[in-house]
Amino acid sequence: TPPTNIDLKKYIRTIPNYPHEGILFYDISTLLRNADAWQIASARMAHGIAAWQPDLIAGIESRGFVSASPLATALGCGMIMIRKPGKLPGKTISIDYDLEYGQNCIHIQEDAIKPGQRVVIIDDLLATGGTLQAAIKLLRKTGANIIGAAALIELKNLKGREKIDVPLFSAITYNE
Ligand code: PRP
Ligand code: MG
Repeated sequence: TPPTNIDLKKYIRTIPNYPHEGILFYDISTLLRNADAWQIASARMAHGIAAWQPDLIAGIESRGFVSASPLATALGCGMIMIRKPGKLPGKTISIDYDLEYGQNCIHIQEDAIKPGQRVVIIDDLLATGGTLQAAIKLLRKTGANIIGAAALIELKNLKGREKIDVPLFSAITYNE
């Protein structure tokens, strides 16, 4: 078992002016590359949401998939994919939402969630909260019972949390 007193921030790299001028990009690829750090980060996420007893973990494409998948395995949950347009076969339900620059759209398969299933939505990063807010609205269109959400990283100064009306866990916070 890896050491648990590890400072996960040491493994997250920041890249200025990416993907746009003035944006500081939080790069989790340097965390993913380190076996111990990634195992501990995933374990912290799993610990943060376990008490909610989800049936399904919903990951938001694409870095949310990476964060969500080990949680589904660790907690014995199914996993569903919230995807960008044109990626899911069969009937889908979608929602458009505004980004800092332009618009975005996400889909789920209309039969992804059975009535009564307890769903937790996972993403790697909570910045403005626009993406997670849209994912919550999208899943609610199916009548889903969203019992919580979690992000590996939360950027506190952007106050994304204020947009989220379900219990929200974050494993690593910046700018408190
Ligand atoms: C990033 C990040 C979150 C979202 C956070 O995804 O992975 O999903 O932005 O921003 P917000 O809180 O301001 O909405 P991005 O759309 O860059 O795509 P990716 O996950 O496919 O890399
Ligand atoms: Mg993303």
